[in-house]
Amino acid sequence: MFRLPLLFIATGIVSFVLFHVGSLFTTGGWVLDHPRSPDGWFRVHLLVLDWATMVAMGAVYQLIDVVLQRRIYSRMLGYVHYVFFMGGTVILLAGFLQSRVEWIAVGAVAAVIGILLFVWNVGRTLWEAKRWNPITLSTACALLYLALTGLLGLAMGLNFAFQFWVDLHERLLAAHIWLGTLGWFGLLITGFSYKMLPMFYLSHGASDRPQYYILGLWNAAVLLGVWASLGPGDGSGPTLGVILLLAAALLIYDRLIRDIRKHSHKASPGRGIVWTLWSTRALLVFCILSLCVGLVAPSLLRSLSWIVIAGWVYLWGWVAVTVLGYMSKIVPFLWWTHKYGDQAGRPGVPVMSDLISERSVDAGMWVMAVGLLTALAGMGFMEPWAVFTGIAALSAGALFYIGVIARVFTR
Ligand code: HEM
Repeated sequence: MFRLPLLFIATGIVSFVLFHVGSLFTTGGWVLDHPRSPDGWFRVHLLVLDWATMVAMGAVYQLIDVVLQRRIYSRMLGYVHYVFFMGGTVILLAGFLQSRVEWIAVGAVAAVIGILLFVWNVGRTLWEAKRWNPITLSTACALLYLALTGLLGLAMGLNFAFQFWVDLHERLLAAHIWLGTLGWFGLLITGFSYKMLPMFYLSHGASDRPQYYILGLWNAAVLLGVWASLGPGDGSGPTLGVILLLAAALLIYDRLIRDIRKHSHKASPGRGIVWTLWSTRALLVFCILSLCVGLVAPSLLRSLSWIVIAGWVYLWGWVAVTVLGYMSKIVPFLWWTHKYGDQAGRPGVPVMSDLISERSVDAGMWVMAVGLLTALAGMGFMEPWAVFTGIAALSAGALFYIGVIARVFTR
């Protein structure tokens, strides 16, 4: 069972390295170009599909065992899923980069087949286990939203090639973004955190009631976002509602984390995990700030600069930091179990915490955080040099950090 998650996680690590090497190569200048350009689509999907989604899929294959105490429905299907998803996204990304609409259409079809195989495999496992709780319900919703994100992406890819739904395209894009960001990543991260945070903290006895509220509020935010995109009107009113719902969900999520910490039997869950908690609070502060901006100057909230900044805060500041933080625990666990699981306790056998340096994890996170904040300030105040410097620091920190994670495989 070790090989399948590792295959996805290792491919994700390679994509992450490619993304940052590419970013350093252009000295971060791509960030200032219009995001809806071939280069923008390529870079965004290299990060969200071939890194974050790839690693998340690997983590799901690994953790479903822990959550349900049962194996994935079909391991073989997992490998078929990998071939379609990997092959499809490579063609899709090449199509974005080269502006070849027929490649985009073909790549999108294959990648979506991969996504649907994954959703079927994990969905069937959940269905057969019949253990419905906030963890499994969040995972099921996240899977549904991933499938819809992929199908809408496919609809847009086909539209590029055949102009089937020209008038609908803008609305499909907005719904695609809400479903992918808030729906897929948001529900998967919160859902799996209900299981993992108590494990990392060795915490027992925290109430699970807040998990139901978060699940409800987060789903409401996703559905309102999709309705704002596909329904009548320009979507500005509902967008404020989405931010309000998300802020409420994050506030309760923060409460839940405090409760888990209160019941903890461990001094620290590890630096990577502490950073994920800070990033959740930072996202909450950003939501409150966006709400204030939306009430005082609604047009600012709809401006491209604010949308791009919000995208960076959510995808980098929260999703990427959380995925990276969790990787600092999941990768040593996977590797240690594979390599030393049957020799535990024997002389000379390392303990899991020997596989990764906490100081290096912390240092990498600091550099990334300072880089991201500098880049965001540069975007806000239209200072290109700050954007270039910030993105360069972010990429340097990210490459260092992923090197620390990859080194685990040499231990
Ligand atoms: C097989 C899966 C996917 C396909 C085929 C796909 C396809 C597309 C296409 C064709 C566009 C360009 C639309 C336009 O600007 O007119 C796009 C944009 C976008 N997609 Fe996806 N997508 C997929 C998965 C995802 C996922 C999982 C996310 C997660 C967040 C995502 C996030 C985005 C974002 C943020 C944009 C706007 C990017 C920009 O304007 O540069 N996509 N996608």
